[in-house]
Amino acid sequence: MKPVIVVHGGAGRIFKEREQGSRDGVVRAALRGYGILKQGGSALDAVEEAVRSMEDDPHFNAGCGSVLNEKGEVEMDAIIMDGKNLDSGAVSAVKCIANPIKLARLVMEKTKHMLLTDHGAHLFAQAMGIPETPGEKLITERSRERWKKNLEADSNPEEFQKDLGTVGAVAIDSEGNVACATSTGGLSNKLVGRVGDTACIGSGGYADNHSGATSTTGHGESIMKVVLARLILYHMEQGMSPEMAADTALDYMKARVGGLGGVIVVNNSGEWAARFSTKQMSWATVKDDQLHYGIYAGERHTKSVDEALASGSGGF
Ligand code: GLY
Repeated sequence: MKPVIVVHGGAGRIFKEREQGSRDGVVRAALRGYGILKQGGSALDAVEEAVRSMEDDPHFNAGCGSVLNEKGEVEMDAIIMDGKNLDSGAVSAVKCIANPIKLARLVMEKTKHMLLTDHGAHLFAQAMGIPETPGEKLITERSRERWKKNLEADSNPEEFQKDLGTVGAVAIDSEGNVACATSTGGLSNKLVGRVGDTACIGSGGYADNHSGATSTTGHGESIMKVVLARLILYHMEQGMSPEMAADTALDYMKARVGGLGGVIVVNNSGEWAARFSTKQMSWATVKDDQLHYGIYAGERHTKSVDEALASGSGGF
């Protein structure tokens, strides 16, 4: 099997001044994940590395750069899933951790559980020796400004919610195993303790070697209502291509609950799709040593991996 990785940096509205950073971030993440796959690494390692790269990048709403809850704190959700055996791990409402995706993977591999939340997740992180990152270090000037703006009496929170920025990755490795990973700071000015789609299996992501893998982004409550990730795999199980399955599920979410979002998909033959019903979604993919990426509907740039690395996209 030829390895493939697809990543997204969030569906919604990407403000002009953030476009370049968002493009660079998804390209870097895709190249890092692909580097692992090219060396014979697993889909699971590739998606974790790609998501970790975007958690460390302040252009995205995950890890450093996460949006703030109503109290002005970062609270993050993440999930990872292995399509070989349907194992998954997730964390929700975690604070003071640089890479929630790493903790989600530890939940999958070191516990009998699938989801740890808030204080319990914190205790588990300590037990696993994950260093605590002061909450302040995860907060950017931009997320603080946005939080303050949303608190103003005349603000339009809807407008700011359109700029979402969840991150995710899906991959298939040379052995034909698929995996997905998704990580987010959630919604700006959300209630303390709000858990979104990202941490919920079947909503924020799903991976099954029998069909493929998907990671979602967009309005979390809408995504949960239609269990978007599992719905896409269901459509693929019925014979649809990744693109058709993604569009059918996104159309359904819009028609049924008025929700917008975006998805990345890979099937177990290595066909892929990056589709969205929002105005924009930053995405990148590498297959056959060719990098493709874009932000707007219909936008697709192509470069060889060698060319991308030579131009400083920081890969492997
Ligand atoms: N899709 C990210 C969230 O709503 O939390």
